[in-house]
Amino acid sequence: PTVYLDGLYLPQGEARVPVLDRGFIFGDGVYEVLPVYAGEPFRLAQHLERLERSLRLTAMANPHGREGWERVIREVVRRNGGGDQSVYLQVTRGAARRDHAFPDDTPPTALVMSSPLTPPSAEDLARGAEVISRPDPRWLHCDIKTTSLLPNVLLRQEALEADADEVILVRDGVVTEAATANLFLVRDGRLLTPQQGPHLLPGITRDLVLELAADQGIPAGEAALDRTDLAAADEIWLTSSTREVRPVTRLDGRPVGTGEAGPLWRRLHTAYQACKD
Ligand code: PDD
Repeated sequence: PTVYLDGLYLPQGEARVPVLDRGFIFGDGVYEVLPVYAGEPFRLAQHLERLERSLRLTAMANPHGREGWERVIREVVRRNGGGDQSVYLQVTRGAARRDHAFPDDTPPTALVMSSPLTPPSAEDLARGAEVISRPDPRWLHCDIKTTSLLPNVLLRQEALEADADEVILVRDGVVTEAATANLFLVRDGRLLTPQQGPHLLPGITRDLVLELAADQGIPAGEAALDRTDLAAADEIWLTSSTREVRPVTRLDGRPVGTGEAGPLWRRLHTAYQACKD
């Protein structure tokens, strides 16, 4: 595949970043992941807006304006054959002598790459995910999409070793999100998701699901949720750009609701598929 690195389009195996890059040394970078369906970046404006926000909150320079990013993303997608892809975009504070303080006049490092995306089949989705819950070990700025992902990496590995797909995170008794996705639950026909704030990522798929629910006349909104709410939920879903809307059928070894993907999930899944076109 072709990647974009600092102004050049290169074969992925030839793209190199200096060892002093602060992304490598400190995890001093931010990123985005966005789906491309039939060659068309999905919700591009929202992803670029969130990127700008992550850069602003970390006082990092933006190497491209919106149009510049769009041009690069479309070129990488085109060179990699169009169709369905997952685009990964990363900006770091650049390469400089190792010092925690910001470097002077160091240009940021910009990377865009993509890989084939196989959207989950309806059957795979309907089978549902098995998840575990854990205390949230992360910092207090989980609304920034940073490349410093060590806690998320450790959580995902813990999930796999427990034969689970994902980890739902609980901070001071409050449910926030999962290690790589946002979270929704259904109770008595209402769709609920944890309140946006510093403890969770403002997910692009989360916003889309709230929009689709409004279109469908499904009552939906934010709420403070705890473990009791999870245990009493009729349905639980996870949302992310690469895994769309995924029903959770087992939580901590117990079935969620009936233990099968629920009727409201089916409606939202159908609505999501329709808006890809
Ligand atoms: N992760 N919360 C966390 C911690 C995430 O890492 C992600 C996405 C989400 C969902 O956000 P969105 O709907 O905007 O994709 C929520 C991406 C896909 C990743 O790190 O690969």
